[in-house]
Amino acid sequence: PPRYTNAFRPLEKLVPTVTYDADGPIHNYDIWAKPGLAGIVPGLQTPVLGYGGVVPAKRIDVDQGTRITMTMHNRLPATHPVFGTPVSISTHLHGSASLPQYDGYASDLTESQQKKVYHYPNFQPARTLWYHDHGVHYTAQNAYSGLASQYHLHDPDERRLLPQGEFDVALTLSDMMFQANGSQLYDDRSHSGLWGDVILVNGTPWPVMKVKKRVYRFRLLNASLSRSYRPTLSTGDPVYMVATDGGLMPAVVPVSEWRHGSAERYEFLVDFRKYATGQRVELKNLSNPNNRDFDFTGKIMAFDVVGDSFDKTDPTWDRPKPVMARPNGDPLASKEVMGLTETKDMKVVTIRVQRDDTTNEWNLNGETWHDVVDSEYKKVLASPDLGETQVWEIQNNSGGWFHPVHIHLIDFKILSRNGRAPFAYEQGPKDVVYVGEGEKVRLIMKFGPHRGKYMVHCHNLPHEDHDMMHQFSVGLKSD
Ligand code: C2O
Ligand code: CU
Repeated sequence: PPRYTNAFRPLEKLVPTVTYDADGPIHNYDIWAKPGLAGIVPGLQTPVLGYGGVVPAKRIDVDQGTRITMTMHNRLPATHPVFGTPVSISTHLHGSASLPQYDGYASDLTESQQKKVYHYPNFQPARTLWYHDHGVHYTAQNAYSGLASQYHLHDPDERRLLPQGEFDVALTLSDMMFQANGSQLYDDRSHSGLWGDVILVNGTPWPVMKVKKRVYRFRLLNASLSRSYRPTLSTGDPVYMVATDGGLMPAVVPVSEWRHGSAERYEFLVDFRKYATGQRVELKNLSNPNNRDFDFTGKIMAFDVVGDSFDKTDPTWDRPKPVMARPNGDPLASKEVMGLTETKDMKVVTIRVQRDDTTNEWNLNGETWHDVVDSEYKKVLASPDLGETQVWEIQNNSGGWFHPVHIHLIDFKILSRNGRAPFAYEQGPKDVVYVGEGEKVRLIMKFGPHRGKYMVHCHNLPHEDHDMMHQFSVGLKSD
């Protein structure tokens, strides 16, 4: 596919049916997961599996306090039409503190022609979430085929502070390989990962977007199965990082490049005011170790600056570095997470990330999801009380691999990386941490608000499926 000739497509919004009960509004969505065709490679049709049968699937927008009911209808064939793998789905809203029964447990499968109703509370601070398939052992194939999209949770602070509407732009990154007939190629022989030679943004290869001379907000989600990125602007100018996975950062961080692993979300502002009409600004990818790079994987997308007018009464238009505090100086970033500090009495939970070189299976502390299932879900990596704060140290003992490790239910704060301070851009609330080659990362988190069992896993999806997933329990200690 050609580079920088395809027009950028914004992620369209799903429209809910609104009902009310005594507690207020409920937004209801019915989503049919079904096969479809997408025009990705010029002149060819690519068979996909999509929410609504389309790729990219539409996004969901919601205001804090509005509950969502999502009915997921599985109208997919029981066997993947291209890869031949079994297709059963489980839908996870990544970034949401959902009740365990609505969290998309990998083994909580909805089979073909069945449906499941999910309830999402949306009480958390504003953030970029995403919903994607989590079916056990085939999450990689399902997500690669299209079962993923963004979900934006808004709140009044974020609405006031950051660009909205057409200037609040969702960017979902993915990479793919294609066969000569336009079908996707799924090529992962040793479960180490899948790296495509085509980079897509919102399902379009290397798109070009027209931008006005003002400040834009981008919500960059890395939905690639395995590839990590190191985005940078071609002009050498910084972007202004304003939010991480779990919402607003304590302060704006200008950054000229950053490591962006699978499932991480970074929200940043780009100031297009200073560029000339007609100028092209590229978002490039400097890459990281242990990816498989191809001729054009160093390119992501381009912005063409246009001179069109816009509403200058919108105060966000010329504010690349908004003040992330209330008038009284209190930070806007979630105190619940940012206020956590390590104390002596906290027991440190150690999680070793490893690989078995004979079976090519990945594990956490020597155990896989198979072991969890075989134990009838009794095995856990940790079992905090409800409301308990713990420190987890994740140690990458897997040789030359990196792992984006995701913990469900909670937001965490990164305390340290290899004994040093975390990168400035990752000092906001997080739910995925990039654990680079040989790295040791310490996290702090408070467990709640729900009791139950939740997953923890690598978000390199071939790793997750083979079989780097485990669980922890909250408030279920029997002693
Ligand atoms: Cu984005 Cu357990 O997943
Ligand atoms: Cu991994």
